[in-house]
Amino acid sequence: MRSKLGVNIDHVATLRNARGENHPVLLKAAKEVIKYGADSITIHVREDQRHVKKKDAILLKRKIKKPINLEMAPTIAMVNFAIKLNPKFVCIVPEKRKEVTTEGGLNLTQKNLKKLINKLKKNNIEVSLFINPSVKDVRNSYKLGVNAIEIHTGSFAKAIKAKNKNKLNYEFDKIKKCKLECDKTKMKFNLGHGLDYDSTKYLSKIKNINEYNIGHFIIGESLFDGFPKVIKKFKRLIR
Ligand code: PXP
Repeated sequence: MRSKLGVNIDHVATLRNARGENHPVLLKAAKEVIKYGADSITIHVREDQRHVKKKDAILLKRKIKKPINLEMAPTIAMVNFAIKLNPKFVCIVPEKRKEVTTEGGLNLTQKNLKKLINKLKKNNIEVSLFINPSVKDVRNSYKLGVNAIEIHTGSFAKAIKAKNKNKLNYEFDKIKKCKLECDKTKMKFNLGHGLDYDSTKYLSKIKNINEYNIGHFIIGESLFDGFPKVIKKFKRLIR
């Protein structure tokens, strides 16, 4: 199975918002990354809309043909927005107002989670949960009836950067165990957070990953090398 690359373009919006005008244009970034091989566009519409705004999401949905993966908090207001937007995928993520980025996986014991998931699925939206690399959370996601899980790879990515071999083996093993557990179900298996060339290459030892979702590194590295080179390199790594 060929793994897909979802490109998260939130950081283009962050750069744009720094000046309060419309440059760099988010839609142009989405079109560019698609041109060079992105299989889907990921956007996190936070409740405070501090980077991607609802009107950005609506414009992207209207103008681009590749699937949109909407990351959002598990709230009724966001579910209602998702239903209006009608993206192909929703990835439910935890959200804290002051965090710099999504710090960990979802708390799957949140009371109304199943109700929110069912509402999205009834509207033909494929639902994924962003979870910690824990076999228990894979099982609980399955019980919640989602179509996919995305494993938070942040700790693994940090271990690689720190060249901490023991921690790296420990974190890699956890992700592998989650994949084995997921393979017992029909859920798709996605990975994301903090990934760069090294961590993506290492993770590609695990076969049949459905999708890698990568944002910060792609946008940052493209300042030096441009989208064509960076995206094509990721596509080669996950092939
Ligand atoms: N996947 C999910 C669910 C995320 O929340 C994020 C960060 O917004 C990413 C992937 C991408 O992470 P990064 O920007 O570190 O590549």
